[in-house]
Amino acid sequence: MQNYSAILNNIYTELNASHFRGEVANYIPELSHVDIHNFGIHLNVLNGDQFSVGNTNTPFSIQSISKVLALAKAFSIIGEQLWQRVNVEPSGNPFNHLSLLELENGIPRNPLINSGAIVIADILVSHLKNPKADFLNFVRDLANDPTINFNKNVAASEKATGYKNFAAANLLKSFGNLENDVDEVLDFYFHQCAIEMNCKQLADTFYVFANRGTCSQHKDYLTLSQVKRINAIMLSCGFYDEAGEFAFEVGLPGKSGVGGGIVALLPNTFTITTWSPGLNAKGNSLLGMQALKLFTTETQLSIF
Ligand code: DON
Repeated sequence: MQNYSAILNNIYTELNASHFRGEVANYIPELSHVDIHNFGIHLNVLNGDQFSVGNTNTPFSIQSISKVLALAKAFSIIGEQLWQRVNVEPSGNPFNHLSLLELENGIPRNPLINSGAIVIADILVSHLKNPKADFLNFVRDLANDPTINFNKNVAASEKATGYKNFAAANLLKSFGNLENDVDEVLDFYFHQCAIEMNCKQLADTFYVFANRGTCSQHKDYLTLSQVKRINAIMLSCGFYDEAGEFAFEVGLPGKSGVGGGIVALLPNTFTITTWSPGLNAKGNSLLGMQALKLFTTETQLSIF
C-alpha cells in the first residue's frame, strides 16, 4: 500500500524550496500577472481517495490542456473521420510552429499543437448548437462541477495578441481545412483555452481518460478504443518538443498548458495534476515536470 500523502508532501517540500522556477508566460499578457510562487499537486485515485498538497484550490488558466477535452468532444461526435483532417504524429516542434503545416498541405501533425487544436475547434463550431456554452457544459459534466467557467479577460487578452494563431487559422483556411470563419473558430478556441480550474477540478475532469471512458459519475462519454487513442496522443504529443522527455522521465500520458498546469494519468489507477506557473524553455511547467518525475519514481508507478 502506497503512502501517497507522505510521498506528495516530500515532493512538495523539496521542490517548493526551489529558487529557479522558470518564467511565467507573457505572450498572453493577462497570464503574466500570475504569482510564480503558486505550487500545488492533487492526486485522484480511482478508488475514491484524494490527496492534495500546496495551492490546489486556486483556479488557473488550463490553456492547452483544454485541447484534450475538445478532442474528446469532437471525437465522440464525428468518430474516426476526424483523422482525415488531423494527423497523429508527434511534431518535434514548438506548439505554435507553422512551417510544417504549409509543407504538409494544411494537415496538422496532431490535435494537440495549436494548428491541430484549431481544426478540432472548427469541428466543434460546426457540430455544437451553442459551441461555447455546450463545450463548457461538457467540461462541467466531466468534472461534476457547475462552477467551472471561462476567464473572459484571458480570452480577450489572447485574442488581442494571438497573431500566430490567426496565421495558423488563415493557413488552414487557405488549404480548405477550416469550414467556418477564422474569427468565429478562434473566438471559440481562445475561450476554450481560457477555461479556469484548480488542481482538484482538473484531476476530476481527466478521470474519464483513466477510467476507460466513464466519468466519476458513472456516465459513459468515450469508447475504450477512443480513450486508448486519446491517451496515446497525450503520451506522444502532449508536451510538444518535450514529449519524448516527459515519457522518458515520467512515463505517463499527460498534457501541459502555458498557465503552468499539467495533468497526467495512469489508466485504471489515478489522475494527477500539478500547477506551478513558471515554465521551462519548451513552455511546460518546470516544477510540475520535476514533481511528476519524482512521483512516478517514488511510487514506481508508470505505464512502463
Ligand atoms: O494558443 C495558445 O498559444 C494558447 N492558448 C495555448 C498554448 C499552450 O498552452 C501551450 N502549452 N504548453
